[in-house]
Amino acid sequence: MERRRRAERLIATLRWPAIALGLAVVGEHLPATGLAAIVGSVVAYNGILTWCVQDRRRFDRYGRPASLVACALDVGMITLISALAGPVGSLAYVLYCFVLVTLGLTTTNLRNLYLAAATVLAANAWATIYTTSHGGNAGHMLIALGERSTVIAFGCLVGVYVAKSCSQDDLLSERGSHLRAILNCGLRLTGFRDVHELARYVLEAVAAETAVSGGQLCLVNEESGELEWEAAYVRPTGSEKARDPTLDSGSAPSEASLRAYANWTISSGKEFLARGENVDGEEATEDDVPVIAMPLVWHSSDIESAPSVLGVLVVWGAAGQDFHADAIDVLRILTAISSAAIVNLRLYTNLQKSFLGTLHTLANGLEARDEYTQGHSERVMRVACRIADRLGVSAEGIEVLRNASLLHDIGKIGVPDAVLRKSGKLTAEEWETMRRHPVVSEEICRPLGLAPEVLFLVKHHHERLDEKGYPSGLAARDQPVLQRILAVADSFDAMRSRRPYRDAVPEDELRAELNRWAGRTMDPTVVDALMRLMDDGELNSIYEEHDRAIGSSHHTAGSAVRRAA
Ligand SMILES: [Fe+2]
Repeated sequence: MERRRRAERLIATLRWPAIALGLAVVGEHLPATGLAAIVGSVVAYNGILTWCVQDRRRFDRYGRPASLVACALDVGMITLISALAGPVGSLAYVLYCFVLVTLGLTTTNLRNLYLAAATVLAANAWATIYTTSHGGNAGHMLIALGERSTVIAFGCLVGVYVAKSCSQDDLLSERGSHLRAILNCGLRLTGFRDVHELARYVLEAVAAETAVSGGQLCLVNEESGELEWEAAYVRPTGSEKARDPTLDSGSAPSEASLRAYANWTISSGKEFLARGENVDGEEATEDDVPVIAMPLVWHSSDIESAPSVLGVLVVWGAAGQDFHADAIDVLRILTAISSAAIVNLRLYTNLQKSFLGTLHTLANGLEARDEYTQGHSERVMRVACRIADRLGVSAEGIEVLRNASLLHDIGKIGVPDAVLRKSGKLTAEEWETMRRHPVVSEEICRPLGLAPEVLFLVKHHHERLDEKGYPSGLAARDQPVLQRILAVADSFDAMRSRRPYRDAVPEDELRAELNRWAGRTMDPTVVDALMRLMDDGELNSIYEEHDRAIGSSHHTAGSAVRRAA
């Protein structure tokens, strides 16, 4: 469309000198009123076309009808000039070639060009007969008609050549764009760690390379076998931005139709194609919307096993218009790349889950060596998640907190039992060993490819609000809410459970300690949420098993909080 706009802009600019030249040649043969009418008309319609081509949106909206009208009026004006300028000396008909060549610049449909050439020949025949009938003879008329028709036919041939060259340039440019998009897509898709984002990116890439109005991508759930919509895209119209996932576009097929297309494609494993057909003058219906449903197929390395269908990409176009011939090929390639990326992502996710499970087991095993720390990470995770829920943290944030809580102390694998289980005061050297465990935890977890937020929480779960925590002594402004929650939950569990050097802190003393440190080492909002959970008894179930194992013990524990922190 942009190429056509540039061509129309060039034509509108060239029309001024072309018409001026024509009028200069034949002007003396025209009556003053006729000359004024022709000049006025040309200024009006070429002025409108010039205004249309200045802006892309304006051209998208009015460009096609404006250029067609300008082209038709060009023929009319040239015919009028030829007829009024008298039988001899008129070269205005040469301007017909201008019309045909410029039409070749803007159209790729040769049928339209031939139709325009036939119209021009007919108009020229009329003008020639009209002028030669006043005082000329039949011989003169035939010679003039033959000469002019030959020149016009030559102009038509040039127009055809221009149209073919332009359409080949367009094709090459379009295919180059497709190749670049496919390459970019292949590079980007391997970097996604979330299937929704991946699906969304695929839809946007498809929309950018094909003239689709919208699309949806759905995947088959590996466990339930159900079809689930992962992402939707509707092409923006005007200033409106892409909407997701509401599909209320006037041209979008109904949800039931989309599901039917997707189900058929999943069950058959074949492509579904509905062409957009519309009868001129009739209002478009859903049946006129072109639709392509492309299966996302994965061929496993086992050549004997059948290919599996991972999901479906459904796209639709404007009612009554068909997809471009290249659209299906582009969709085939993009869905093939997407299938491979989805399989890789699923493998990566499963592998990560497996590693996480192994690490959780390792962490539990580490804690199980010592009756005092047994179940610590699990309890911290449950307390932290309940605090986060009370504070309105998002589901994604709670998931980050969950993973970090379960792994936060795994670095204690590097701390000797003699230090971990020591009931007396730790020496400076032993403290140094102990203080290294958050860093070791982060180093153990780093190769897993966990989210950076998880690694941050693991490394900094002993930071304090007064900036005297370890390992970094982070400034308060650099301590996000999830880190503050984990720090409070960790300290709370350390106080609430029995340790080698003391019994569990009784509840009234524990509340006093929390109040004492809120706003100093601990975030007061987080502590407040924790207190409300205690008030509501929502933490009792977490400590039932622990309390049963150690028996109910309520000795005073002095400076337990300082030691725990
Ligand atoms: Fe720790």
